[in-house]
Amino acid sequence: MSFPNVRMRRIRKTNQLRDLVRETRLSVKDFVYPVFIKEGISKPEPIESMPGQYRLPISNLQNEIDTLVSLNIPGVLIFGIPEKKDALGSSAYHDDGVVQQAIKHIKEANGDKITVFSDVCLCQYTDHGHCGVVEDGKIINDKTLELMTKTAVSHAKSGADIVAPSAMMDGQVQAIRGGLDKFGYSDVAIMAYAAKHASCFYGPFRDAAYSAPSFGDRRNYQMDYSNPNEALREVELDVKEGADIVMVKPALAYLDLIHRVKTTFNMPTAAYCVSGEYSMIKAAGKMGWLNEKAATIEVLTAIKRAGADMILTYFAKEAAQWVQD
Ligand code: PBG
Repeated sequence: MSFPNVRMRRIRKTNQLRDLVRETRLSVKDFVYPVFIKEGISKPEPIESMPGQYRLPISNLQNEIDTLVSLNIPGVLIFGIPEKKDALGSSAYHDDGVVQQAIKHIKEANGDKITVFSDVCLCQYTDHGHCGVVEDGKIINDKTLELMTKTAVSHAKSGADIVAPSAMMDGQVQAIRGGLDKFGYSDVAIMAYAAKHASCFYGPFRDAAYSAPSFGDRRNYQMDYSNPNEALREVELDVKEGADIVMVKPALAYLDLIHRVKTTFNMPTAAYCVSGEYSMIKAAGKMGWLNEKAATIEVLTAIKRAGADMILTYFAKEAAQWVQD
């Protein structure tokens, strides 16, 4: 040993000492919990590929919010599952759409006890399952921007605190910022799904929301995960277009990007620990191959260590209890 007096193990001696030197602390205040609200059901429906997660009817929403508030979870991200889909995803921007109703319920009953984020995209609402307007088999960028802007404005009108465009259309942040400002919602923030990658880890979500594309895939709008420089350009553009929070998605396989985004832009940075990341830990836990609690805390800590200020995660409720242990 070249430095025999240096003993790194001295600071690992006791629980208390390990607590005192800990550099990254996971807190319930880091979490935003995604919920699926489904139109036309009366009871929660378990999502098979995401054990412990449910599609909820509006009538169960308050129950869920009570749980989140009692756990001190600061935010909820709303996903809608509409009864009817059509080519232009029109139920995404109806004033009485499922998300609009959900947001109104939450805001009327809970005020500022919880921050409401709403996902702004068309894929759950279109009959073809793509995130935008389709013509001749192509996803048309600027026509999609108009519909996304209408959707975001209707979420803001319902009371959303933060809208989160996730379609990966060019110019989506600028278009939505313009729409929000024009209709008097300049205080509504935008969390941009800035570096959202075409990922197999969204599989369970698409089961949950019946939103898999009916033809092709999303690789001509979502990012290629091989291209970190392109990811930084995406984030830079969203910052210039007026994003308040930038997101990297997925999280675990993208820790390098979380780190680079945080250190390059110094923006509030979110990481989305997506459905597949949740389900693989759940599955290994169920098989007895991994300790689920330990794996979850290790993964969430790594995401925070990489630079995330907030983590969107289906683990939020369980982890809220575990981080207090
Ligand atoms: C909507 C959207 C998706 C996710 C978040 N917003 C699905 C997709 O892009 O196919 C995935 C979230 C998850 O997997 O947990 N575009």
